[in-house]
Amino acid sequence: MSEQLVLSTIQGKVGILTLNRPKVLNALNNDIMLALSNELLALEKNENVHVIVLTGSEKAFAAGADISAMQKWSYMDVYKSDYIGGFWETMKTSIRKPVIAAVSGYALGGGCELAMMCDLIYAAENAKFGQPEIKLGTIPGLGGTQRLTRAVGKAKAMDLVLTGRFMDAQEAESAGLVARILPNENFLDEVIKIADGMANFSSPVLMMAKQCVNAALETTLEQGLAYERRVFHATFALEDQKEGMSAFVEKRAPNFKNM
Ligand code: CAA
Repeated sequence: MSEQLVLSTIQGKVGILTLNRPKVLNALNNDIMLALSNELLALEKNENVHVIVLTGSEKAFAAGADISAMQKWSYMDVYKSDYIGGFWETMKTSIRKPVIAAVSGYALGGGCELAMMCDLIYAAENAKFGQPEIKLGTIPGLGGTQRLTRAVGKAKAMDLVLTGRFMDAQEAESAGLVARILPNENFLDEVIKIADGMANFSSPVLMMAKQCVNAALETTLEQGLAYERRVFHATFALEDQKEGMSAFVEKRAPNFKNM
């Protein structure tokens, strides 16, 4: 029986996807990206799941695109493949629930790019980020020159992309790539605990909040502010907004119905 490339489990309202090619440090190929796409879509459709966590192993979130597979590719092979390019279309248009990258160990090349496609990154103390494609005679091809630059600024992005060096969790956090660093011990459990906290809020409101923060990267400030205002108004059409504010005033815990 062939190995399952992406493991999917659900804990409470949190869906957990685990990249599972441990022998090659979760190197990304067409098959694993297709499996990841399918599992993400399944969790998106599952109404009981409010937040998704994407993770790898303790040693590697993902050490990049599969170099052995790419080694012999021609221009037309790589042009036709477009495997993570296609994956991004799925993330962008179909996955509205928040996706957290839980990065332990290496997140390099396509692995760092995959983490950056998620809505936020939590890193274990042992995490290492980098875009080492320059060492292979190529450049990042899945957003590394674009998302990394937006996350950490031009100076550090240039440094990482042109030298191929790795950045540790501390540096990644102070540069703005990583939202929080958590201890190596029980790392995934701690991320799931945070995800569970989010997942107990209203699911439609989580989706709206994610959409608005992401809009900040695609719009002018004026357009972004106008968009946020409209979505803020829209929350007042939800039962969950009535429940959240009533619960505060009545000094009790809210009971969100996700409506
Ligand atoms: N593709 C294919 N196989 C990989 C891989 C990758 N990206 N990264 C690691 N592996 C394999 C190794 O070949 C090795 O396999 P064998 O046991 O069969 O020899 C196995 O995983 C374990 O790796 P190492 O023995 O190298 O482990 P290490 O602890 O000594 O080093 C590492 C870890 C620093 C991450 C090192 O493996 C490494 O440098 N990997 C490549 C990182 C890289 O260059 N990533 C960018 C890829 S290109 C890309 O991603 C392009 C893009 O933007 C789309």
